[in-house]
Amino acid sequence: ARAIAYARAAPKVELHVHIEGTLEPELVFKLAAKNGVDLAPYQSVHELRAAYSFTDLQSFLDIYYLGARVLQDEDDFYELMSRYLAKCRDEHVVHAEIFFDPQTHLQRRIPFEVFMGGFLRAIRNAQTEFGMSVLLIMCFLRHLPEEDAITTLNLAKPFVDSIQAVGLDSSERGFPPHLFQRVYEHARGLGLDCVAHAGEEGPAEYISEALDLLQCRRIDHGIRCVDDPMVMKRLADARIPLTVCPLSNLKLGVVAVVAELPLRDMLDAGLCVTINSDDPAYFGGYINDNFEAVIRAFDFVDQRVIHTLLRNAIQASLLPAAHKLALE
Ligand code: HPA
Ligand code: ZN
Repeated sequence: ARAIAYARAAPKVELHVHIEGTLEPELVFKLAAKNGVDLAPYQSVHELRAAYSFTDLQSFLDIYYLGARVLQDEDDFYELMSRYLAKCRDEHVVHAEIFFDPQTHLQRRIPFEVFMGGFLRAIRNAQTEFGMSVLLIMCFLRHLPEEDAITTLNLAKPFVDSIQAVGLDSSERGFPPHLFQRVYEHARGLGLDCVAHAGEEGPAEYISEALDLLQCRRIDHGIRCVDDPMVMKRLADARIPLTVCPLSNLKLGVVAVVAELPLRDMLDAGLCVTINSDDPAYFGGYINDNFEAVIRAFDFVDQRVIHTLLRNAIQASLLPAAHKLALE
């Protein structure tokens, strides 16, 4: 219990959260009413929340993309980001690196300026009002062709100074990292950092591809690394961080119970493991609940383990070295 209280109160860094995954059912219905969006077959917050019972990644993505349809004007994106950043303040998140999925909105004919305008306005407020820092990571949807990702990167060019990195998300199996080599190369040319979801449902091989072919400096999820000792060793030697999301893995059936996550093996192998929330509105908890879940599952009564997880996240961030030092 002391360990849980310690983690809850500690200043934290969040490295894996999708802003569209912070859309709570209450805001879905509020914006649906405002914008005249039909949410059939769901009639109420209660009914929608009851549908948050997933069997795998795809069953979640279907409802995640459905919910995102209520986001229409700049104020909607502002409200979404503002609510998440207020949650960060409440949970003592002092720095957050936040994914957004431009293609989900561009496909609905919402211009880049609209969602970026809302996000950036909310971020500026949080920076001045509660002194937190935020970096944005633009994700490409891997179930769409690379050509689409390239078009998206071109549309992002006017905003490139407000974007820290590119990422890769959505359906993993059957959409390996090597399909996105060209767009990642373009992104690096624009000075963007590279991360990718790999080894969540997909094999350890996708982690190697993300490192070799996309030159990723951090891997999102990455838990399947334990299937390949060579991949484990490489992640440890190069100190490539992994952004693990325990409640996500539980709710998407990647593991049957949190204790099944290979966290001890990963920590014992010297991997830079971090704890994150992924899509907290859908998976039943923000970062503090994710910490609590692993502390309970692994009986991490020793505060040194928690301290390591917290410090790993600072080291794993994409912030400049001087800013990292200030967080230590
Ligand atoms: N995996 C892949 N795509 C996603 C996720 C995830 O956990 N969350 C939002 N998009
Ligand atoms: Zn994710």
